[in-house]
Amino acid sequence: MTTTDSVGPAGPGPTGPAGPSFADLAQRAADRRDRPAYGHDALITCDRLVRIFSTDGVEVQALQGLDLLVREGELMALVGASGSGKSTLMNILAGLDTPTAGAARVAGHDLLTMGAKDRLGYRRETVGFVWQQTARNLLPYLTAAQNVTLPMQLGGSRKGRRAQAQRALELLELLEVAECRGRRPFQMSGGQQQRVAIAVALANDPAVLLADEPTGELDSHTAEQIFAAFRTANERLGTTIVIVTHDQAVAGEVRRTVAIRDGRTSTEVLRRTEVDATTGHETVVAREYAMLDRAGRLQLPAEYTEALGMRDRVALELEPDHIGVWPDDSEHH
Ligand SMILES: Nc1ncnc2c1ncn2[C@@H]1O[C@H](COP(=O)(O)OP(=O)(O)O)[C@@H](O)[C@H]1O
Ligand SMILES: [Mg+2]
Repeated sequence: MTTTDSVGPAGPGPTGPAGPSFADLAQRAADRRDRPAYGHDALITCDRLVRIFSTDGVEVQALQGLDLLVREGELMALVGASGSGKSTLMNILAGLDTPTAGAARVAGHDLLTMGAKDRLGYRRETVGFVWQQTARNLLPYLTAAQNVTLPMQLGGSRKGRRAQAQRALELLELLEVAECRGRRPFQMSGGQQQRVAIAVALANDPAVLLADEPTGELDSHTAEQIFAAFRTANERLGTTIVIVTHDQAVAGEVRRTVAIRDGRTSTEVLRRTEVDATTGHETVVAREYAMLDRAGRLQLPAEYTEALGMRDRVALELEPDHIGVWPDDSEHH
């Protein structure tokens, strides 16, 4: 993963001044306890999520203790190699599959304990999804407008027929495919189908929109338009959106990108726009973060550890405002 900046300047190193005193550390820990946890305003919370598939006596650990928090109103991307567990996670968040262990909550719904009836309601009203295969998103014998009104009818919308048709048209207009309202999927391009699919997913005004490789079957120009459609939905309707993608161009446009590796979230990249006070010039600053689990475990990016030849053991030093990590130099002493 490329970033336009790096972590801050190198610290004083293991020979630097003594670290913070015990009293300092105790005070800091006390301050931290009084502060609300980041998770408090999270719309999606996954805590040590595990999913094991057993086929013919062979076990596959698709998710191996995955932690993830998504805030209300966020538009974020999940990236990861094929087989890293992205679709498994999306299916769980969509209410289509249940985890083997761990905890997962979405908009106040507990995805592990939810009963069949609540699960159905959850799928119809709390989450909307867009899949990679354009054909999986739309019913082939219905027009675009009918595809969008269908979830409202199934979801027991209190809207009358006319209000439903009105909302369908508004959504199609918002996503710039109003001209397709009377067409069936085979009469639309792949990009139009995906934009109609986003309208279908938004029909019941879900708290969360999940998209699994929504641009996977599209060329890069069309993929950009689809991404713009997600952004519009996020900005205009306030919908929280999670997009799985291995398209770096898409990942580069969201504020937060979380990387999944071997069924766990490993690193994340946050982007910020900085404005130079004197020139007014804007630059996008990207910073890479690693996930720290409750046991204090940290996975360092392979590019970092390989660059410094770090393996097996590293030297640590607590500094007033950071922790220094150095290659193991004990053999030289
Ligand atoms: N229904 C299933 N049965 C057995 N193994 C599965 C099933 N779904 C996914 N897996 C396995 O779990 C792992 C993660 O798969 P998946 O979540 O589809 O990854 P990704 O979407 O990141 O490519 C893979 O090794 C895959 O073969
Ligand atoms: Mg997948």
